[in-house]
Amino acid sequence: MPLPRHATGRLVVALLLALATVLPAGGEEWVWDLPAWRQPPPVPADNPMTVEKVELGRRLFYELNLSGPGYMACATCHDRRLAFADHRRTAIGITGQFHPRNSMALANVAYFSTLTWADPNLTRLEDQALVPLLGEHPVEMAVTGSEERVLSFLRHDPIYPAMFQAAFPDDGGRIDLSNAARAIAAFERTLISADSPFDRYRDGGRTDALSPAARRGAALFFGDRLGCGACHSGPDLTDMAFHNTGLYDENGRGALPEGNQGLIEHTGLAGDMGRFRTPSLRNVALTPPYMHDGSVLTLEAAIAHYAQGGRAAGQGARSPLASPLVGGFVISQQESADLIAFLESLTDRAFVENTAFHSPFR
Ligand code: HEC
Ligand code: HEC
Repeated sequence: MPLPRHATGRLVVALLLALATVLPAGGEEWVWDLPAWRQPPPVPADNPMTVEKVELGRRLFYELNLSGPGYMACATCHDRRLAFADHRRTAIGITGQFHPRNSMALANVAYFSTLTWADPNLTRLEDQALVPLLGEHPVEMAVTGSEERVLSFLRHDPIYPAMFQAAFPDDGGRIDLSNAARAIAAFERTLISADSPFDRYRDGGRTDALSPAARRGAALFFGDRLGCGACHSGPDLTDMAFHNTGLYDENGRGALPEGNQGLIEHTGLAGDMGRFRTPSLRNVALTPPYMHDGSVLTLEAAIAHYAQGGRAAGQGARSPLASPLVGGFVISQQESADLIAFLESLTDRAFVENTAFHSPFR
């Protein structure tokens, strides 16, 4: 017996509602594949994770045509094999403009409360992705002024329209920079490193995951004498706070070189001169050179900088703005080698080799 029309309608609505509770808005729900000790990262409600969106984001991350002239991708400066950093001291944009800062590694950015070296207001990966795309100070990917060329490329490509449709069905698969940034952010959230030897040792309870040297180094790192763990704390070895580690003192009052002075550029507060966000040390052995300006070339040199109470102190004048947590210490060669063995135990080979992060263009 046919159901009365309004009843069929209600049945359809009920079925759709039931479906909506099992399917995320448009697409296959993303399943986190993490060791027991790592919680999934927070995901903004307005950009839910789906398999299709991550796949689109991955392609866009490697897409050279996502730049004005068409030969620079996010991956140009964020190389998977280097834990998504690069080996330049400071980055160079597509027009040859020097970026004042060192490219950052991207492992576990999904968990970070602020992004980049010194911007307390940049808190969403969706917003951050637009900075290299559109930024003019400095120019990185030079999309500003070439938006139409870039979007027209994506709209006429044989592959992208279907991928945007699958990733953003609620939006009619709209191809614009905002959806591109949302997809890239979804891909970045999957870049999780949680299986380094140190993770297995600390969280997995596997004492044998670290060599005796690395274990001694960990004790030094987290101990009171060196005090590294005061700032490099938590699962990603960063407190997400801004500190001045005493690298520079240009004028006896703690100034840093013009154009690269850290948090003060955003707050205007004199005390924020030279304060940078503590970087995560995950995979740090793969990401030289170090510091916001790439001015420290090796891990040995980074340790020497801290031992001196800040590089400026080693050069004769301790910065008056250096954090009291960077007080200097005496360290033997053996201890320095142990500390490096610990820092090397933060390298997560499975992360670097994860084929899910490889370029889809091959
Ligand atoms: C020209 C080189 C270059 C390109 C291209 C580039 N980046 Fe970066 N990236 C950098 C530099 C340099 C920084 C540090 C910026 C700063 O502190 O001002 C950075 C920082 C970041 C951070 C912050 C990481 C953290 O620990 O807070 C993220 C996330 C990021 N980039 C993602 C991207 C994405 C996504 C793209 C492509 C849309 C991209 N980058 C393109 C050089 C680059
Ligand atoms: C006061 C907080 C603080 C303490 C203590 C501290 N760090 Fe740092 N660390 C930072 C900040 C902030 C930076 C970035 C500084 C900059 O670029 O100007 C940094 C950068 C680094 C880097 C470079 C990472 C990169 O990707 O460029 C290494 C390596 C490092 N620290 C290791 C150590 C070690 C080893 C110790 C202990 C001897 C230590 N840190 C103690 C806050 C701290």
